[in-house]
Amino acid sequence: MSLKGKNILLGVTGGIAAYKAANLTRLLVKEGASVKVVMTPAAKQFVAPLTFATLSQNPVLTEFFNPENGEWHSHVKLGVWADAMIVAPATANTIAKMANGIADNLLTTSYLSMRGKVFVAPAMDLDMYAHPTTRQNIEALKSVGNIIIEAESGELASGLNGKGRMAEPETILKAMSDYFESDKPLQGRTVLVTAGPTYEKIDPVRFIGNYSSGKMGFALAEAAAEAGANVILVAGPTKLTTLNPLIKRVDVESAQQMLDACSQHFNDCNAAVMAAAVADYRPAVQAEQKIKKGSAPMTIALESTPDIASTLGKMKRPGQVLVGFALETENGVANAIEKLKKKNLDFVVLNNATEAGAGFNCDTNHITIIKNSGEQIDYPMKDKKLVANDIINQILLLLTPEKQ
Ligand code: CTP
Repeated sequence: MSLKGKNILLGVTGGIAAYKAANLTRLLVKEGASVKVVMTPAAKQFVAPLTFATLSQNPVLTEFFNPENGEWHSHVKLGVWADAMIVAPATANTIAKMANGIADNLLTTSYLSMRGKVFVAPAMDLDMYAHPTTRQNIEALKSVGNIIIEAESGELASGLNGKGRMAEPETILKAMSDYFESDKPLQGRTVLVTAGPTYEKIDPVRFIGNYSSGKMGFALAEAAAEAGANVILVAGPTKLTTLNPLIKRVDVESAQQMLDACSQHFNDCNAAVMAAAVADYRPAVQAEQKIKKGSAPMTIALESTPDIASTLGKMKRPGQVLVGFALETENGVANAIEKLKKKNLDFVVLNNATEAGAGFNCDTNHITIIKNSGEQIDYPMKDKKLVANDIINQILLLLTPEKQ
């Protein structure tokens, strides 16, 4: 069970079970989720926002506008940020508003802006829960794809006994992680990823290499595996490690070895992403013994290495998706389009080697995806792990539905 890396928006409404939402916040954070909490005005009567701020390590959102610092809380941004929203506890009042599209506070507007899955954990007195109007509203929420985590039976805050108690935080957590576990759009697919630099030997102790860290390629391998794919990660020399059992790592050193590994596996793959910074040249001759220092100037004759992306571009069958990178310092779009065509790619990921926070050896990247259809998508600068998700999502769009 894990919610590692997931962004969860927890909506707390005004019911006594709001105290249980504090424990839910703690469990979500413990499972690796980033949690933001939005409270209705009534919820603040039950639990202080400070409790949720402390547990989630994020400011609690209650109003659209914070007059103290002039900050505007955008429900639209929350809707895009969150992978899922959980409304717990969900009162009869909030359920009714959600079912009817009423957007009169930050929680209900955020619900309407949500792109990810919405979970609802009702909590109310037994008669309210059994009321035909409430049942209708719950059915209406289900019918548009929300997941209802039904209330449980037991002693209620009113002293009555019956169905209406909010499900335990552990039950809610399980429902959410089950959902994410089953959300594996690349299950049964195989994705090949190249990563890192290549080293081209000059002699037994020297090589031509580059500063690539392999972070982008490893993030892509992780993102593909998280989406359920079997991943073949062909990695040049790098210190990075992988733990995901769906990733089969093949370590190589030179461009030729990388090509050999890729050609061996490409046929069995649905998609391949060429994230490695492959050396374009290698010494024409590799000295068998260490080259000794002489007094004359030294020249090393170089020859071209094989182009792995181009080779796979020629092998590509209909239905296979091939993605390349273009690391440029000038004329980015024009150069990227040329690579896209020359290498027979489905799309190219353009990044700028000179831009701070993008390219080699950093944790973030700023990319533009250029598709062979001509469409261009510019993404904001973000963590390489999130960039990897964007690239995997674009691959998913290209994989034919019958194979998805
Ligand atoms: N690539 C490859 N094999 C090579 C060189 C590059 O597979 N021998 C792949 C890279 O992994 C990347 C894409 O081709 O996905 C473009 O790499 P890049 O170095 O930007 O382009 P080059 O074709 O080498 O052109 P140049 O260096 O002149 O910009």
